[in-house]
Amino acid sequence: MIAFVTTNEGKFREVSAALAEASVRIVREDRSYPEIQADRLEKVVRFAATILDDQIPGDYLIDDSGLFLDAFGGFPGVYSSYVQKRLGCAGILRLLAEGKSRAATFETVFLLRQGDSHEVFHGECPGTIASGEAGTGGFGFDPIFIPQGATKTFAEMSLAEKNRFSHRARAVAALLAHLRAPKEP
Ligand code: IMP
Repeated sequence: MIAFVTTNEGKFREVSAALAEASVRIVREDRSYPEIQADRLEKVVRFAATILDDQIPGDYLIDDSGLFLDAFGGFPGVYSSYVQKRLGCAGILRLLAEGKSRAATFETVFLLRQGDSHEVFHGECPGTIASGEAGTGGFGFDPIFIPQGATKTFAEMSLAEKNRFSHRARAVAALLAHLRAPKEP
């Protein structure tokens, strides 16, 4: 059994639903861990693992994600959680007010600890920032993000629909490929 260590219920719902389709069950471990300031999501999860390895006895999964705006060289990226708290969706809309590119990418990095090994998986979802907030589903920046190939925001989608497009669902697909790969003897 894998424990998904997250305080974010939305992340847990998305990941557990995507894994359940492949008959993989996870449990939620609702606890926080230190998130360092670093230039890449992968560094954040790798540092967190150095702490969690001593705290969690079995296999666990962690998720660090961010919204990367083209117009601002990838900002807020690794600082997304801080920007979400301070500025919210409205702040992002204000930043993009003056005809700036609305292209953006959501990224997720998972770290899976199994036994003595750490494996990292990535998922990306390109899209655009909507002209205003729309929808009530999901969490975080979902009301302002329209994934490529869709005409509505993540917050206007059901969980199953979001999982057809999302960065997190793509990281789940990479995780599943790893879990299904034949193990070396
Ligand atoms: P965290 O550091 O991985 O918890 O996430 C950073 C921030 O990115 C969160 O506070 C959310 O605001 C935002 N975020 C991460 N994933 C998503 C998502 O799937 N939808 C909307 N916002 C997200």
